[in-house]
Amino acid sequence: MGQENRIKVGLAGCGYWGSKHLRVLNELPDCELTAMCEPSTENLDKVSKAFLPEFITDDFDEMLETDIDAVVIAAPARLHYPLAKAALLKGKHVLTEKPFATTGEHALELAELATSRGLTVMVGHTYVFHPAVQYLKELVNSGELGELHYIHTARLNFGLLQPDVDVLWDLAPHDLSILFYLLEDEPMVAGARGAARINPHLAEVAHLDLEFMDGLFAHIHVSWLEPVKVRRMTLIGSEKTVVYDDVAQGEMIRIYNKSITLGERNGETGFAPPTYNDGDITVPFVKPGEPLKLEDAHFMDCIRTGARPRSDGWQGLKVVNILESASRSLYNSGSLEDLTPRYYFQTNNGATADESNGHTRAGARLNGNGRRANSRARAGRSNGNQTAVKGQVGE
Ligand SMILES: NC(=O)c1ccc[n+]([C@@H]2O[C@H](COP(=O)([O-])OP(=O)(O)OC[C@H]3O[C@@H](n4cnc5c(N)ncnc54)[C@H](O)[C@@H]3O)[C@@H](O)[C@H]2O)c1
Repeated sequence: MGQENRIKVGLAGCGYWGSKHLRVLNELPDCELTAMCEPSTENLDKVSKAFLPEFITDDFDEMLETDIDAVVIAAPARLHYPLAKAALLKGKHVLTEKPFATTGEHALELAELATSRGLTVMVGHTYVFHPAVQYLKELVNSGELGELHYIHTARLNFGLLQPDVDVLWDLAPHDLSILFYLLEDEPMVAGARGAARINPHLAEVAHLDLEFMDGLFAHIHVSWLEPVKVRRMTLIGSEKTVVYDDVAQGEMIRIYNKSITLGERNGETGFAPPTYNDGDITVPFVKPGEPLKLEDAHFMDCIRTGARPRSDGWQGLKVVNILESASRSLYNSGSLEDLTPRYYFQTNNGATADESNGHTRAGARLNGNGRRANSRARAGRSNGNQTAVKGQVGE
């Protein structure tokens, strides 16, 4: 690509994660990093001078006055909204780190602003660009796992306590964005428990439970307090189980060919003895690729082509909406927070989607087999007349 056609980018924030964007943006052939905003001289001193652009400021507004086309925001979470909003109002495309914003209201405002101005807005949901997650997506779509029984994830580490958000807002965006990407579905109910042991104001460990429309359960465990680093996602299916272990280099995906089926019911006791099916464990090859580089390259592509980013503002909003509900639960002793379509959707005639087609908490009704009634063709997707409103535009 000719120098003159490259997308001019400004980077805001060059701390732990911003320094990685700095390297990656320098490596992308269609990106020209021309400006940077970083108030900490100490952090600036830590990065390779070879990567630094000529224009460096500690004033974000000053960076916006330069001829950059786009900004990448890797500043602390509380600044994502004001910085992204200022950039969008100046006509710049935006990639902001997760979480998209720290309130649903702000996330919605950013998503709407970008849409109304025809600008690309993208959220740093890095894992949806991970080749292993791409593999999981293909596996789920192929139906090889059978019907999903449940999912659990663990993202545990020691340290990197954030000053402005708790562990849920810091780490759970990764698991939530992966789940939404894999399932193409959103939960109806969320509940969270956790504890703030070091900083009394911000939880350092949290357990988040989600229930999806068709009764699928997912459990997310995040912690900043664990000496043993774990980044694992397990999808238990009726045919096979897959474990994605992000710290197991070279063998991140393991597929267990194990399942349980019930036999014939015994007339006398009524007991149907289970059969345990046990087969191979396979470790497929996952093609290499640095997720952050793939993410930033995707941002460049979307700016150039106008394509909708895989992790656009509307995806960012979905994650923030769940985090808001989970926070209410977390700081309210684990109360169950209802996320039914009533909360998200309304039809053209003003009726809520669940009123118009009978999807009143359909996921909570059992069918004749004692299983949840399958309602994956959920409100707002099944009815072409329905208009997504607050929080779900762009579905
Ligand atoms: N996608 C991922 O996998 C991933 C991983 C780690 C962190 N992050 C995200 O990256 C963001 C930064 O996290 P971090 O760990 O690098 O924090 P950090 O504290 O190391 O870095 C933040 C940097 O932003 C700078 N900053 C502060 N105010 C600024 C302003 N007004 N304009 C520009 N820069 C400003 C700080 O001086 C600091 O250098 C967070 O939102 C975090 O959630 C994402």
